[in-house]
Amino acid sequence: MDGGPGRGRSAAPASRLSPKQLHVTELFCGIGGLAAALPPGAEVLAVDQSELARQSYAHNFGHAPKAWNIAGLKSLPPSDLLWLSPPCQPYTQRGAQRDLADKRSAALLRVCALLPLAQPRFVGLENVPQFQGSDGHAHFLKALDGYQIWQGVLCPSQLGIPNKRRRFYVLASRRGQVAEPVFAPEDLSLDQYLDPHPDPILFLSDSDTARLLGVLPIITLAQSTETFTSGYGRSLLKAGSLLRTVDGRVRRFSPKEILRLHGFPDGFELTPGLDRVKQYKLVGNSLSVPVVRVLLNALGLDTQ
Ligand SMILES: C[S@@+](CC[C@H](N)C(=O)[O-])C[C@H]1O[C@@H](n2cnc3c(N)ncnc32)[C@H](O)[C@@H]1O
Repeated sequence: MDGGPGRGRSAAPASRLSPKQLHVTELFCGIGGLAAALPPGAEVLAVDQSELARQSYAHNFGHAPKAWNIAGLKSLPPSDLLWLSPPCQPYTQRGAQRDLADKRSAALLRVCALLPLAQPRFVGLENVPQFQGSDGHAHFLKALDGYQIWQGVLCPSQLGIPNKRRRFYVLASRRGQVAEPVFAPEDLSLDQYLDPHPDPILFLSDSDTARLLGVLPIITLAQSTETFTSGYGRSLLKAGSLLRTVDGRVRRFSPKEILRLHGFPDGFELTPGLDRVKQYKLVGNSLSVPVVRVLLNALGLDTQ
């Protein structure tokens, strides 16, 4: 799949592998942020419990994810690359930060138990920055005993993309050192990502704008968007940026604009007819595709 503006690249490690030679398992696949970062030809087995996520994934990638509950897996599918984006609620500031005591951590714990038996060549994990230093993080690192590890917080703004989405990543390789991710920033501006004719439903009423003016997270075209969360369709506060347009009105970003900011190609479509709040939930949960490409390159995988 072709990326949108700000497609990430990193300096090539000495021996690069084409994902076309690889079998990939994408756990907690959502709408397919990892699949969108791989070139056509990679063989991907994806898993997600959410029917809505699976429908959008299948609509774009031509294969349907498995509806398995990862917490109940007996083994991990054999693969060269295992990618996981487990639920972040056990670690977020907005959640109760119950870490492994949160029942949504059960699936990550299951993966940790199965990983030493499966021993995929490469492993990648994405989560919120607060995952770093958690008990979940410690369990995961223990399951990667014997792997070379790189870990850190990255943001699409490092590629020049006008979107902040700081996420913590772990990369692991059983085949030598993981290279330091390398960013080649481009000069990108917010207007490149906007719908030419924004849907009128995106605009706030004058009364809402006046009532909430001091607290709304409003940005201008010269700024970067703050992280869009899965609650953006329900909340105007602390869930992602609002845009002040050149005519002075204030509006939400559309799901399509958020997908572009996340680096999904223009041809990518959520399931047609999907309710707007659910669209925001799916895109707010997803990944920065160009950042994932930088990470795959750091593992020595070719993403062209
Ligand atoms: C943070 S989102 C990952 C989004 C994904 N990386 C993307 O690009 O859209 C977490 C996903 O994990 C799924 N999930 C959570 N618990 C699960 C479980 N026990 N088994 C399978 N899927 C699960 C959710 O439905 C959700 O889509």
